[in-house]
This record gives sequence, C-alpha cells and structure tokens, in this order.
Amino acid sequence: MVKVLVVYDSRTGNTEKLAQAVANGARRVSGVDVTLKKARDITPEDLTSADAYAFGSPSHFSIMSGEILTMFTNIYAHRHALAGKPACVFTTGSGGQVTALENIERILGAFNPKWIKPSIAVEGAPKQKDLEQAEKLGEKLAKATISK
Ligand SMILES: Cc1cc2nc3c(=O)[nH]c(=O)nc-3n(C[C@H](O)[C@H](O)[C@H](O)COP(=O)(O)O)c2cc1C
Repeated sequence: MVKVLVVYDSRTGNTEKLAQAVANGARRVSGVDVTLKKARDITPEDLTSADAYAFGSPSHFSIMSGEILTMFTNIYAHRHALAGKPACVFTTGSGGQVTALENIERILGAFNPKWIKPSIAVEGAPKQKDLEQAEKLGEKLAKATISK
C-alpha cells in the first residue's frame, strides 16, 4: 500500500470540503491508503511515512493560514522526506484564493516535490463542479504515487 496524506486547515468548512473530495478521489485508486488530517495534528512521522501529499488552506490575509505556515515551519527539518514525492495544493477564499495558492505553491516549492497539477483555488463554499475537480486531483495524485 502507498500512503497519501491530505493535510488542511479550515475554520468554516470550505477547505475541509475540498480536502474530503481530494481524499475521496485518491481512495478511488486501489492500493492507496489515504489519511485526512488537520495541519495542527500533523506529526513529523505523518510526513516522513507518506508517499504523496495534498495541502489545502483557506486564504488568510491573501496568504496561507497561520496553521498551514506553522506546519510547514515545523516540518522544514524533514524536507528531504518530501523531495521528489507527488504533491498538490488547493485553497479557498473570498477573492484572495489565487494569491493564497501562489503563496502555498512558493513555500511548498522549498520542499522540492513532484508537482501534480492543476492546483485548485475556489471562491467561497465549493460547488459540485469544484468537488469533482478536487476528486480528479486526488485521483491523479494517487495514480502518480502508484506509478512512481
Ligand atoms: C482571519 C481571516 C482572514 C481572511 N482573509 C482573507 C483574505 O485576505 N482574502 C480572502 O479571499 N479571504 C479571506 N478570508 C476568508 C476565507 O479565506 C474564506 O472564507 C475561506 O473559504 C474560509 O475557508 P474555511 O471555511 O476552510 O475556513 C479570511 C478569513 C479569515 C478567518
């Protein structure tokens, strides 16, 4: 089994819905074990034991949320564990979701992942089409992990 870790922050549920959709998409691929966790609950072991990653954040002041930034800061010492592994990102916001996406992509770039695109930036509560897009992204992430 390969391990896909979906990490997110969410206060009012928008990003959480996308995270669940990404996880559901990844679960469509057989041989994949999917873990869905809030950023504040992530341990270095969660990071080092995973084979692929999805990171989701709300836009807070047009950048990633403090919880996501704190998590990246905490795992920076373990950045070698992410290098070359498939990873994707998604954000929600009320207009600033794209700038938050650019921000999270820039920070995650320091970990040298194998990017799985397209990244997703959703305004407001995710609609059905957004959830379907997130499921596709999760499936693509899982498939990239299997074929690595
Ligand atoms: C402290 C705070 C700051 C925010 N700043 C922005 C912002 O700068 N730009 C923006 O588009 N949305 C901003 N928002 C709105 C959230 O990004 C948006 O409602 C998001 O979908 C919430 O995601 P969640 O339901 O997963 O918490 C902010 C929300 C909070 C709580």
